[in-house]
Amino acid sequence: MKQGSVIIRGVGSYLPRKILTNHELASMVDTSDEWIRTRTGISQRHIADANEVCSDLAHMASKNALADAHLQTKDIDLLIVSTITHNMVFPSLAAILQAKLGLRNVMSFDINATCSGFLYALEIAAHLLQNGNSYRCALVVGSEKLSSIVDWEDRSTCVLFGDASGAFVLEYTPAEHVGILDTVLGADGSSPEKLYCGALQPTDVNTKHFMKMNGQEVFKNSIYWMRKSIEELLKRNHLKKTDVACLIPHQANLRIIQSLAQSLDFPMEHVFYNLDTVGNTSSASIPVAFAQAKSAHYFHSGDYIVLVAFGGGFTWGATLIKWP
Ligand code: COA
Repeated sequence: MKQGSVIIRGVGSYLPRKILTNHELASMVDTSDEWIRTRTGISQRHIADANEVCSDLAHMASKNALADAHLQTKDIDLLIVSTITHNMVFPSLAAILQAKLGLRNVMSFDINATCSGFLYALEIAAHLLQNGNSYRCALVVGSEKLSSIVDWEDRSTCVLFGDASGAFVLEYTPAEHVGILDTVLGADGSSPEKLYCGALQPTDVNTKHFMKMNGQEVFKNSIYWMRKSIEELLKRNHLKKTDVACLIPHQANLRIIQSLAQSLDFPMEHVFYNLDTVGNTSSASIPVAFAQAKSAHYFHSGDYIVLVAFGGGFTWGATLIKWP
C-alpha cells in the first residue's frame, strides 16, 4: 500500500429549481404542514422537471464540484456514481455522465447501496486512489430523482423525499493522516420488505413500481445502525465523541437525527442538517449537506468530521474525515 492520504479537493451540489412545499402537498394528499414538520422536520423539497433526468442533476453537481476543486475534466481518472433512480437499466448513469462531462475514457460505474451509497462509493474510490497506480483524482457523485419512484397518492412516503445531486472530487496526496481516514460499512438484507422499490422496468408496462416502507421499523433500525457505526469508527481510531467537530448525517428525518445525537450524547449544535429545505434525497443527501456545511464554514482546518448514513437493504455506514 502507498503511503499518503485521500483528500476532498472539491464539493458541489445541485437542487432542481422547482420547490414543493408541505402546503402544496396538503392539497394533493390527506396531510398537513404541521404533521409533516412535527413528525419529520421537513418543510419543502426540490422536484426535478419531467424532462430533467437523474444524469442531468448529476451533471450540474459534478460541474460545481470540479469548479470548487479548480480542476478540469481531463484531471479526472475515475468516476463512481451512487444512485437508485437512474432512468434506464443500462448504460450506467456513470457512463452517461462520463460522456456528458467530456471526461477521458476513464473507469466509470454505478453502485446501488440506497441512502448509504455515497459512503460506499467514497470507500471504493478512496481505496483505488490510495492503492492503485492509475488514479490521482476521482469524481464521486450521489444523484437521485426520487420523485420518479414516489407514489404521490401515498401520504406515508411522499412527504419525505426530494430530488438532488451532490459530488466530491477526491485527490491522492502524499501527506499523511488527512482527508478520508476510515470508513465502517454494513448491510443486512434479511428484511427487504421494510424499505424497497420494485423493478424500474416492469414487464407489465401498466404497473408503476413505487417505494414502499414500514416507517417505524426504518426509524428504529436507522438509529441503531448509525449509532453502532459511529461508535465503532471512533473506537478503532482512538477518538472520543468530543473530538468530533461536526457530524453530517443522512438527512432522513429530524427526529431520527435528534434521537441519534441523544443516544450518542452528542450536542445538536455540532450536527449539520438541511432536511427542512431538501427532504430525504437518498444518496445525494450527504454530499449536498456536506457542500452546504462547507459553504457555511461549519468546519475548519484540522477538524474531525463524521458522515453517517442508513438506507434500504438495510445498508449503513460512517466515514471519518480530517479536514486539511
Ligand atoms: N400526514 C398525516 N398523517 C399521516 C401521514 C401524513 N403524511 N403519514 C402517516 N400518517 C398517519 C398514519 O396513517 C397514522 O394514522 P393512524 O394513527 O390513524 O393510524 C398516524 O399518522 C401515525 O402514523 P405512524 O406511521 O405511526 O407515524 P410515525 O410517527 O411513525 O411517523 C414517519 C411516520 C414516516 C414520519 C416515521 O415513521 C419515519 O420517519 N420513519 C423513517 C422513514 C425514513 O426515514 N425512511 C427513509 C430512510 S432512508
